[in-house]
Amino acid sequence: MTQKQLSQLLSSMTLEEKAAQMTQLAPVNFGFNCITPLTGPDTGLRVHPKTAASIGSVLNCDNAEDMIYIQTEHLKNDPHKIPLLFMADIIHGFKTIFPIPLALGCSFSPDSVREAARIAAEESAASGIHVTFAPMADLVRDPRWGRVMESFGEDPLLNSQLCAASVEGYQGEDISAPGCAASCVKHFAAYGAPEGGREYNTVDISDNVLRNSYLPAYRAAIDAGAKMVMTAFNTVDLVPSTANKKLLSDILRTEWKFNSPVISDYNSVGELIEHGAAKDGYEAAEKSLVAGTDIEMMSTHFTNHLQELLDNGAITEQMIDDAVLRILTLKNELGLFENPYKDASADAETALHLSEKNRAAARRIAAGSAVLLKNDKVLPLNISRGSGKIGLTGPFAASPYILGGWSAGIKTGVSLYEGLCGKISPDAIHFEDCGDLGSCLSGNPDIPAPDKDFSARFNDCDTVIIAAGEHQDDTGEGGSKAFLRLSPNQELLIRQVHDAGKRVILILFSGRPLEIAPIVPYCSAILQAWFLGTESGNALADLITGTINPSGRLSMSFPYTAGQIPVYYNHFRTGRPLCSENADSRYVSRYLDCPSEPLYCFGYGLSYSDFQYSNLQIFPEDSAIGSLTACITASVTVSNVSDTDGCETVQLYIRDLSASIVRPVMELKGFSKVFLKGGESQTVTFRITKEMLSFYKDGRKTFENGSFLIMIGRNSSDTLNKELYITEHLFEKEIS
Ligand code: BGC
Repeated sequence: MTQKQLSQLLSSMTLEEKAAQMTQLAPVNFGFNCITPLTGPDTGLRVHPKTAASIGSVLNCDNAEDMIYIQTEHLKNDPHKIPLLFMADIIHGFKTIFPIPLALGCSFSPDSVREAARIAAEESAASGIHVTFAPMADLVRDPRWGRVMESFGEDPLLNSQLCAASVEGYQGEDISAPGCAASCVKHFAAYGAPEGGREYNTVDISDNVLRNSYLPAYRAAIDAGAKMVMTAFNTVDLVPSTANKKLLSDILRTEWKFNSPVISDYNSVGELIEHGAAKDGYEAAEKSLVAGTDIEMMSTHFTNHLQELLDNGAITEQMIDDAVLRILTLKNELGLFENPYKDASADAETALHLSEKNRAAARRIAAGSAVLLKNDKVLPLNISRGSGKIGLTGPFAASPYILGGWSAGIKTGVSLYEGLCGKISPDAIHFEDCGDLGSCLSGNPDIPAPDKDFSARFNDCDTVIIAAGEHQDDTGEGGSKAFLRLSPNQELLIRQVHDAGKRVILILFSGRPLEIAPIVPYCSAILQAWFLGTESGNALADLITGTINPSGRLSMSFPYTAGQIPVYYNHFRTGRPLCSENADSRYVSRYLDCPSEPLYCFGYGLSYSDFQYSNLQIFPEDSAIGSLTACITASVTVSNVSDTDGCETVQLYIRDLSASIVRPVMELKGFSKVFLKGGESQTVTFRITKEMLSFYKDGRKTFENGSFLIMIGRNSSDTLNKELYITEHLFEKEIS
């Protein structure tokens, strides 16, 4: 359709029809009996057949047959034959499930994230999905919050790059092309900072922190072309996001020039009433519309009150027309007026879903997302070296429920046991079933091993793999937790096997950094598996046996104990930092009973190779002298001093040594993954740009002349450092 035809269509619509376009419901809410998963409370909502006929979009319909049926019936009834938009939560794969986003964050690989999103778009487009509610760009610093699993982690730069890659993957070059889908970035804004990590709780952060830490990833997704934005459940500065004019109008529309639809989160328009931010549905609709929400998800305050709001002058017809035009434009960009079914086809589903090619990509990407946290020379497993068999137990050892939350319509993947059997002769594995893992949701989070002397069963092994962790349902939305340790019986199992003289290899399944300090001493190796998706077991077996060398680096810090939370590497400087000179003083910023640092910091991760860093060089050494130089570079030599080929993630951090507002102790400003053969060295060079040294202050991006500490290293607590004085004029010649 041309822009003119769209405008004509808009002007032919009644107000009721426009309001219906601005409404998204699950099929059951507007007259269809198809079973679709509800991702929030079922309020028993039903709409009048007239409204139903003009509804704008559908939530979480997940197969081609239902989609084609619903679209066909809808087009028979809709007076203007405006196709429905089908939207769903395709978070880390559709049928072929990839690692949870927090794990994908550990890959430090925009290419992997782009590829996973590409495959997810192809598989879900075949099932009739046009818009995916991803990426979740919420920065996370509190592992008590269940949805940290859906974030790429605690760093603004990593988050930004991976969100942008994810949008590129979903959308491709053209969202109307086969296998492409529109991406809806969420949850705008700062949903990842609920107080105490408690789901849906208040978010209260300063404007400077909001802009410097929390907003960049949403912005990066939008700059990458994301076609929609979803609001958040939380308040920002005491105004719920869905009615937050500063966020939705001032920042999103005016500053960032975003001109595509904004959708509320699930019933978040209605929840303004429970927030106490609107006295009734009329006011909830008014405040959301005025702030800039275009589509109401899973509630009907727009359809119920639009006429009244208009009659009272609370909103203008122009506002409604702008919103509806944005929705129609998106439908048009997807090509739905010409082909309302887009890629939906049962044959395409059969061909694409869980195809060999997709599973091979999932296996490779999964292996790149696990993080080796500890290794006392026990991994990779050398089966011929040890005496006896390899023991295998723990609640996740043979469990296929390792996909991680938000795995639409598919429940199981390759278990660790299956994966190991594909790599090692099953005869070399001594598997002992220790029973199911409990969960907080089931009310029974701590199930004991079958007998007291369980560890004695491993007499024929000197090494035992224990697959432990948390139930996948104890993570994700509504998965906040106050206790982050393994269940007491899992800890007991690890201790007992260790005390029986075995070397314990812990494979840790979780959707968040858990509190593992109490069991680290009992483990010879720890591999953080997160939830790696369909190919979990195969990917883990590749790593355990050394077919693949671990390369994941933590995207989120692991606390020593929950009492340290939030603990994140890029925290702000204080007036009394702890350092070697004042380590004995009482009056420094620290805990009396626990280190200030995390157990494992951001960027940390081991490899079977041994990498060394040397020769940090900054050019020019002094920017005042080098004013004729077009750019500043920092380089370092990275050497693989082992015999094992491997991949290292070289990380560039910068500290602004003095500024007009307090700045973080360090911030990731670049990273580079290099593959080094055993014995090989490489010089890795980063260009230092003005953008890297700038920050938001009072709503504006600013650069201040001064000294900066340039740090390059293997993780956020192990870097080579050099100080440099940098003035703005140096960047006048900057080549972009
Ligand atoms: C979640 C969103 C999700 C929506 C639709 C909400 O409960 O917060 O992330 O996209 O449901 O399923």
